[in-house]
Amino acid sequence: MNAVPDIIEGTEIHASSGTLEAYLTRLDQVDLLKVNGKVEQVIGLVIESVGPNCSLGDVCMIKSREGHDLCLSEVVGFRSNRVLSMILGDASRVGPGSEIVATGRSLSINVGKELLGRVIDGLGRPLDGKGPIVTDEVRSIYAAPPNPLTRRRITETVATGIRSIDTLLTLGKGQRVGIFAGSGVGKSVTLGMIARNTSADVNVIALVGERGREVTEFLDRELGPEGLRRSVVIVATSDQASLIRLKAAFMATTVAEYFRDAGMDVMLMMDSVTRLAMAQREVGLAIGEPPTTKGYTPSVFAMLPKLLERAGNSRSGSIGDLHGSRGRGRHDRACGGRGPLHTRRPCRPLQEACLRGTVSGGRPSREHKQGHARGDDARPQGGGPPVPRHDGDVQGIRGSHQHRGIRQGE
Ligand SMILES: Nc1ncnc2c1ncn2[C@@H]1O[C@H](COP(=O)(O)OP(=O)(O)OP(=O)(O)O)[C@@H](O)[C@H]1O
Ligand SMILES: [Mg+2]
Repeated sequence: MNAVPDIIEGTEIHASSGTLEAYLTRLDQVDLLKVNGKVEQVIGLVIESVGPNCSLGDVCMIKSREGHDLCLSEVVGFRSNRVLSMILGDASRVGPGSEIVATGRSLSINVGKELLGRVIDGLGRPLDGKGPIVTDEVRSIYAAPPNPLTRRRITETVATGIRSIDTLLTLGKGQRVGIFAGSGVGKSVTLGMIARNTSADVNVIALVGERGREVTEFLDRELGPEGLRRSVVIVATSDQASLIRLKAAFMATTVAEYFRDAGMDVMLMMDSVTRLAMAQREVGLAIGEPPTTKGYTPSVFAMLPKLLERAGNSRSGSIGDLHGSRGRGRHDRACGGRGPLHTRRPCRPLQEACLRGTVSGGRPSREHKQGHARGDDARPQGGGPPVPRHDGDVQGIRGSHQHRGIRQGE
């Protein structure tokens, strides 16, 4: 609750940057006539309210009947003249009649080089106890991908510092790569190793839906102080509301875009996209979308390419995008997901993204090929070549061979 102003009043920090224009801009943004709404129903994480006057993606503040700020919510839909919003935080004291006030802004994050070495949560609030993050710039977490015609082609390589990958599966600056593996196979360890040793200028790491224990393990063991110094870590653990887990990925992409616009080469890592897809599925199901394959709602398939397309090269810099994706197969269920080295089929939405070409498989799995062969998609059978093509977007790294290769490379 205390951190609420950090998120929605980011423009105040912007305004305090000194120039009169900043204050004039702030004045323009002031809404003098506020139409507030009233909460009618709360079902799960979804709040149905009469009013306020708002649009999709707007952040609203929910107040108690005594007028205290309770929590934030984000408008996710409208039904029969009612506003549907989802809670960003703890909804325990929200009830019928609570006031809901539109802020007229979408979620935003303070961006700047001050973020380096910091660990923030899915709403951009500091988690590491190192004090507030004061920057000159505030960005909305929703942005359009770079114009396709202004994207530079992928012509330079980027070192991951893992010799087996650099030698056999060399990555290019601005390339998007999926790491597909089952639970406990070593995705997080691989991402940590890359974060520590990569030749990119900045790492932006989103830990989405991880267990709380894994976060400190990742920070202390995999990343270390050396890696953290040139990284920004965004954490939304599995206990957080699904919308916060979802926003963490958007926050991370926004931070990566900031550093790319500053002309840097950025390594954006997401661990894991499967959990991100699951978060969107929860949101979709809660607002009444129909479930499709594996229960994933249509919005999952719409959200992934929108988000993933924001990475890659722009005119100024590059965002190389590494995604951890976890598959659940029959074996996963049988061994509780903790078996020895096994490969898994990537989660369905990422597989879809592969098929669409947002994330494509450079070295497709057998199951993936079978998917093509079955006619799951009209794309060429067999996927991409065994060695990554830098004119393509992405290569999929998967499999126990690669894992063993990494071990040999260490
Ligand atoms: N290169 C490696 N060499 C030796 N051991 C490794 C290596 N990579 C991973 N491991 C071992 O495997 C364990 C699990 O790895 P990790 O947490 O990275 O798996 P994961 O794929 O991220 O799993 P999950 O999907 O559950 O998050 C690690 O704790 C580590 O002990
Ligand atoms: Mg992991």
